[in-house]
Amino acid sequence: MEVIIKDSAAELATVAADIVQRLVHRKADAVLGVATGSSPVGLYDELGRRVAAGTLSLAGCQAFMLDEYVGLAADHPQRYRNVIETELVARTDIRSERVHGPDGLASDIPAACAAYEQAIRDAGGVDLQVLGIGTDGHIAFNEPTSSLGSRTRIKTLARQTRIDNARFFDDEAQVPTHCLTQGVGTILEARRIVLLAEGEQKAEAIRQLVEGPVSAMWTATALQWHPYVTVIVDQAAASRL
Ligand code: GLP
Repeated sequence: MEVIIKDSAAELATVAADIVQRLVHRKADAVLGVATGSSPVGLYDELGRRVAAGTLSLAGCQAFMLDEYVGLAADHPQRYRNVIETELVARTDIRSERVHGPDGLASDIPAACAAYEQAIRDAGGVDLQVLGIGTDGHIAFNEPTSSLGSRTRIKTLARQTRIDNARFFDDEAQVPTHCLTQGVGTILEARRIVLLAEGEQKAEAIRQLVEGPVSAMWTATALQWHPYVTVIVDQAAASRL
């Protein structure tokens, strides 16, 4: 696991964008794994600048989202599918129809989860997975006690995550109670992983990820098993290392 500590959000975004750009220059039809949340927004912004400058194109790429809330209406602004449209599709030239996510409105949830796993396999797997990390150490929505071998499935959101994500809603009661999420086992199959984190509130999760024992209580620690992970953090998120 490589840990890169930078001073500013702009530098984090530049390092991560360089990794994406190198991949896409080598493989124009790369399969990207994309995260929602605030952590990757600087990266998506930087990718957008490079697309606008003509030095990068994501038009040949596909993208697979990590997770989705269950039950949010199709036009709800916090539905992750809509968030990724705003944060990534609108900023870059990746094509909307090439961005895939788990269907949080499916009537048959197990079938939707199995279909999503199959779609990732059919695409040849994820070349580069972009991740954030929850304050409780979750990756995607794999909350503490999630199986480290888990696949895409429905999960109940932890109280801490609902508190953390309440800022995107009118109040905590509006935050959905359930989600669909790629499993830890699904994420570990990506060929390369880049995890981004900023701020003191992520410091304990980053400490566990980098120095802690592998544990289902901090699901990000499973990344220690992966051969090609780059963790890009600011000084505050690195402050407990
Ligand atoms: C959410 C998402 C994760 C994300 C995490 C951190 O719960 N499901 O994919 O990494 O929270 O979010 P943020 O980057 O906003 O801190």
